[in-house]
Amino acid sequence: ALRQSFALKAQKENKRSWNYIQPQASYKVSILGAAGGIGQPLALLVKMSPLVSALNLYDIANVKGVAADLSHCNTPSQVFDFTGASELANSLKDVNVVVIPAGVPRKPGMTRDDLFNINASIVRTLVEAVADNCPDAFIHIISNPVNSTVPIAAEVLKKKGVYDPKKLFGITTLDVVRANTFVAQKKNLRLIDVDVPVIGGHAGITILPLLSKTKPSTAFTDEEVQELTARIQNGGTEVVEAKAGAGSATLSMAYAAARFLESSLRALDGDSDVYECAYVQSDLTDLPFFASRVKLGRNGVEAFISSDLQGLTEYEQKALEALKPELEASIEKGIGFVQKEA
Ligand code: NAD
Ligand code: LMR
Repeated sequence: ALRQSFALKAQKENKRSWNYIQPQASYKVSILGAAGGIGQPLALLVKMSPLVSALNLYDIANVKGVAADLSHCNTPSQVFDFTGASELANSLKDVNVVVIPAGVPRKPGMTRDDLFNINASIVRTLVEAVADNCPDAFIHIISNPVNSTVPIAAEVLKKKGVYDPKKLFGITTLDVVRANTFVAQKKNLRLIDVDVPVIGGHAGITILPLLSKTKPSTAFTDEEVQELTARIQNGGTEVVEAKAGAGSATLSMAYAAARFLESSLRALDGDSDVYECAYVQSDLTDLPFFASRVKLGRNGVEAFISSDLQGLTEYEQKALEALKPELEASIEKGIGFVQKEA
């Protein structure tokens, strides 16, 4: 009864409710790269979701132990393990959402684009399998460089004739999570209340927090805007340097990916009030892919929140123009990677 009243309270307050075990729906989720730094804590958070009935864990190695370990948690979903290319197809059968954190992370001194050579091929191969086995699934791409890996995924899906732009998402939720945290700290706001849309892409200056659109409405000095924007843009590097060669953000990323997954599952389940930022095919700007707030529904992206891009401050407007060439180059690099092999 206590748990139910907590769940009800959480629902009323529109909070996410991973902590309350209440089987509510039966969606199947597959994580590709599940034994990695992000994959493991993400799998744990997904195991706690009341909306998930089956959790498929795929990796090229070490996934059996992760699945055995996780399967002992007394939450409703069943856990299945899949190891290596020969089991990839089975890990994707009848799946509603595929989350892809497979690939190498940065070390100090590297940009996300330095990961392109290894991760582009990994994402291409995995998305080919998604196209063949669960073409209707929502696809959440975490593997960097997201600015290029999402266009790669789109091209692969197009080649396979199953591309639905409404269902392909580059996960930029961590930028929003960071923005909310840093703004709440700086301005002494209640964390639960703060929401900052982050647009553009997911690397360096392509990450553009719209501080002028912060909820609740908050005034920032020019110095605060510069400082907060830089910290949000460099959040990934801050963690890479602190980990000093041992990888990049994994725990905060798992938290952010679980949030986006929970939102997707709520949308699939018919909730008509689901909004998240994501890097998606978009016509909000002249770039083919762009991160913005979107409304999620049963079929994926239902609407773009174009009002976020109206009434920008001069600083934001300049930053938006400044990020476009870099984002465009990353998009073209991704598209070229798939097209040149044709
Ligand atoms: P990690 O090295 O700890 O884990 C990656 C996992 O991918 C490993 O278990 C590895 O075995 C697996 N893998 C490699 N090749 C594979 C393949 N072909 N098929 C299936 N699995 C494969 O790395 P991590 O810290 O978990 O980071 C993973 C990726 O996520 C990196 O590219 C990183 O840059 C990116 N990342 C993105 C964000 C974001 O905001 N979008 C945030 C953090 C990290
Ligand atoms: C992040 O923002 O933490 C990730 O993109 C990982 C990285 O390389 O910074």
